[in-house]
Amino acid sequence: MAGVLIALHAEAAVIWVGGMFFAYTILRPATGPMAGPDRLNLWRRNFKAFFAVVWAAIVVLLATGYGMIFGIMGGFAGAGLHIHLMQALGIAMMLLFFHLYFAPWKRLKRKLDAEDYQGAAADLGQIRRIVGTNLILGLITVSIGASGRYWG
Ligand code: HEM
Repeated sequence: MAGVLIALHAEAAVIWVGGMFFAYTILRPATGPMAGPDRLNLWRRNFKAFFAVVWAAIVVLLATGYGMIFGIMGGFAGAGLHIHLMQALGIAMMLLFFHLYFAPWKRLKRKLDAEDYQGAAADLGQIRRIVGTNLILGLITVSIGASGRYWG
C-alpha cells in the first residue's frame, strides 16, 4: 500500500511540475512569433486541458500525501521535517493555483470571448508570473520530497 501511495504521489508531482516546466520554458518561447489572437487562443486551449490535469494532480497529491502521513507514519508526530516543508510549500502552490484559476484564467476566457486581446494579454501575463513562481516552488518541493528521507 505504501508503494502505491508514494508512486501515485510522485506521478502527480511529475505531471504537475513537468507540465509547468514545458509550458514555461519550451512552449512560451515557441509561441513568441505568433500573432496576438492566435497565440492567446492557443494558450486558452492549452490551459483548458492542463488546468483540468492540475486539479486532478492536486487531489491525488493531497489524498496520497495525507494517506501516507496518517496511514503509514502514524500522524504528524512520526513525520520528518521534510514532510512539514513539503506540506507548507505544496499548500502555497495550491493556493496560488486556485487564485490563478479563479481570477486571471476566468478573466482571460471572458476577454477572449469579447475579442479584447489587449486585456487578455494582461491576464496571460499574470498567469505566466504565477506559473513561473509555482514552477520554482514545485522544483524546490520535489527536491525536498525526494531527498528528505536522508536528512528530514
Ligand atoms: C500538500 C501536501 C503534501 C503532503 C502531505 C505530502 C506528503 C508526502 C509524504 C508523506 C511523502 C513520503 C516521504 C518519505 O517517505 O520520506 C512524500 C514524498 C514526496 N512528495 Fe509530497 N506531499 C505533499 C505535497 C507535495 C507536492 C506539492 C509535491 C511536488 C510538487 C510533492 C512531491 C513529493 C516527492 C517528489 C516525494 C518523494 C517521492 C519519492 O520517494 O520518490 N509532494 N510527500
